[in-house]
Formats: sequence, structure tokens, C-alpha cells
Amino acid sequence: MQTGKEYLGEALKRDERVDVALRPVSFSDFAGQPRTLERLRVMTGAAKARGEALSHILLSGPPGLGKTTLAHILANEMGRTVRITSGPVVEKPGDLAGMLTSLETGDILFIDEIHRMPKNVEEYLYSAMEDFRIDIMLDQGPNARSVRLDVPRFTLVGATTRMGLLTAPLRSRFTLQTRLDYYSIDVLARIVTRSCSLMGIEIDAGGAKEIAGRARGTPRIANNLVSFVRDFAQQRADGRITRRVASAALELLEIDENGLDEMDKRLLGLMARHYKGGPVGVSTLAVAVGEDEQTLEEVHEPYLIQEGYLQRTPQGRVLTEKGWLVLGLIPSGKAGQLEML
Ligand SMILES: Nc1ncnc2c1ncn2[C@@H]1O[C@H](COP(=O)(O)OP(=O)(O)O)[C@@H](O)[C@H]1O
Ligand SMILES: [Mg+2]
Repeated sequence: MQTGKEYLGEALKRDERVDVALRPVSFSDFAGQPRTLERLRVMTGAAKARGEALSHILLSGPPGLGKTTLAHILANEMGRTVRITSGPVVEKPGDLAGMLTSLETGDILFIDEIHRMPKNVEEYLYSAMEDFRIDIMLDQGPNARSVRLDVPRFTLVGATTRMGLLTAPLRSRFTLQTRLDYYSIDVLARIVTRSCSLMGIEIDAGGAKEIAGRARGTPRIANNLVSFVRDFAQQRADGRITRRVASAALELLEIDENGLDEMDKRLLGLMARHYKGGPVGVSTLAVAVGEDEQTLEEVHEPYLIQEGYLQRTPQGRVLTEKGWLVLGLIPSGKAGQLEML
């Protein structure tokens, strides 16, 4: 017999395989983001034609939009290897030096969440990016001396969910800074259809559109919803994903027709009921919904802001009219004006 934990372990492994199987491997596989793709195509095409390493690239945007996927695609398109790490993992200058010296010419170093890299490590990255060398201090006090290490011509691909937290010196060392935007429903529907065909799931256009419309503009969420809707279709219908089946499955997940989940609605609801629509500080909101501030800012807020449900102001977060209305409430102090709508 399997324990619950073992089962969960297996389920996660299965999901990981699905994730890898669904990940686009080339530019032509990658849907949406036309401007970013065009920029990357220009750069990879030119670098290949000159036989040079690609210059450094910074990808920014909310989680789940394809930053890690693009780092892999860049390596594939260049015919090189990608090494993956993340900002908080590179704790000491020595960690960075070890990684850089293990690269070969033209390889890609992908640093995820690069805004979380410790500042004392970041400084070493500057000379590595610019001059392809790094001066490491050995010992301390009177015995201190620095050793110069040469680094192969590599490409740094940085990813960040918080462009604003990157220091100016680091940002300026990237040749290209490009931002990924939330995906339109049409593009997401294409991604959903592609995922289903890769997984051998039958889905019609209505089903794909229904899932796409509730995926918060995010491919990762769309793919997760596909997994759940497939299970639902198998257990509660004939296995095929239609609009009706998708809609019933997503209702069970409490994701509404605007793609807002439980946390979004709690956040907006709290602002309306307890703070009269704001302004209210993000730290106050974080405590009130029991989520940490960073997650709130990087994961939950961007979509709500992009869709115009709330605004960031210097005084704090403010619920917009659309935010009130999506809750089925009348904007505070605007009852008179609302009749004119
Ligand atoms: N443009 C795209 N087309 C198809 N699938 C995508 C696209 N972007 C992302 N995905 C899917 O979404 C998942 C999450 O993307 P990922 O690159 O890990 O996002 P990020 O690194 O920005 O958080 C990937 O596994 C991939 O299957
Ligand atoms: Mg990622």
C-alpha cells in the first residue's frame, strides 16, 4: 500500500515530466510575445552568423510567462549548453567563480531571480560580464591578495520578476532587456490546444477557450488547469474537454470567469470591506491575507493591476471601480454616480 506522501511524490514527478514535455524547444514552438521573440531572433541570428557568443540578455515579467523556457530555447538555437542557477543560491563570490570557470565558450549561464543575488556577489559579476575575468580575493588582512581568473566568453541570461529591484549597474550590463507580457486569450487557447495534443487529450475549441479565459494570462496556469480539467473530464464526463466540462471543472476549483482565484477575491474583498477601497499599505494587506509581502507583490498583484482591479499609488493600494464591481459591490462613496453607468 502506498502512503499519501508516496503518492504525492509520484504525482509531483509525473507533473515534472509533463512540464518538461510541454516546454517549447524552439522559437517556432513558442507562442505569443512577438516583440521579445523578434528581438531574440535578431540577436541569435547575428551572433551565429558572426560565430560569436550571444550578448547578455535580461528577461523580466511575472512568474509562469516563459522566462526559463526562453533560456532553454536560446541555448538550443545557439547549439550550446545552458547552466541554470538562481540568485539566492549564489551565496559567495566563490560560488560564482566556480560556475563561470566551468563554462565553455558560448555557453549560457541562466540566473533566475537575479534580483535576489547578494550584492557582494553581484559586484563580481560586473567584470565577468564586461571583461570576461574575475578578481577573487584570497585570505584577509595582511595576507590578502587577489587572483585574476579568466572566464570564457559566455552569455548571461538573467530572469527577474521585479525589474525595479535590479541595481542600475547590473541592468546596464545587459545588451537587451526585454519584458514578457501576459498572454491574450487567443494565444493561450493555442497553447492549451498544443498541450492537449502533446498529452493525447481530446479538446474542442470551446473547451480551449474556456480554460484560456481563466488562466490569468499565464501559460503555466493554463497547463495546470489542463491537467485538472483532464482529470475532471475523465471522472465526471466522457474524457473529452468541452466548454461545459471545462467550465464545471474550473467552478470546482473556484476560479471565476475572470480568472480570479480565491486569493485574488480575498484580497479585493478585504480592501473593499475593511479599508473602504484603500489606500492601504501592502504590508498590512499581506498580514491580513496571511501571505508574505514579496509573494503578494510578485505573484498576485501584477495580474490584478494589469487587469485594472487595483492600483499601486504612493499612499498604498487602491481598489478601482472595476475592482468594486467584480466583487458585486458599489464603489464606496460613489453610489450616486453609479446609477449613471
Ligand atoms: N510561449 C509559450 N508557449 C507555450 N508554452 C509556454 C510558453 N511560455 C511558457 N510556456 C509553458 O509554461 C510553463 C512555465 O514557463 P516558464 O518558462 O517556467 O516560466 P517562468 O520561468 O517565466 O516562470 C512552461 O513549462 C511551458 O510549458
Ligand atoms: Mg522560471
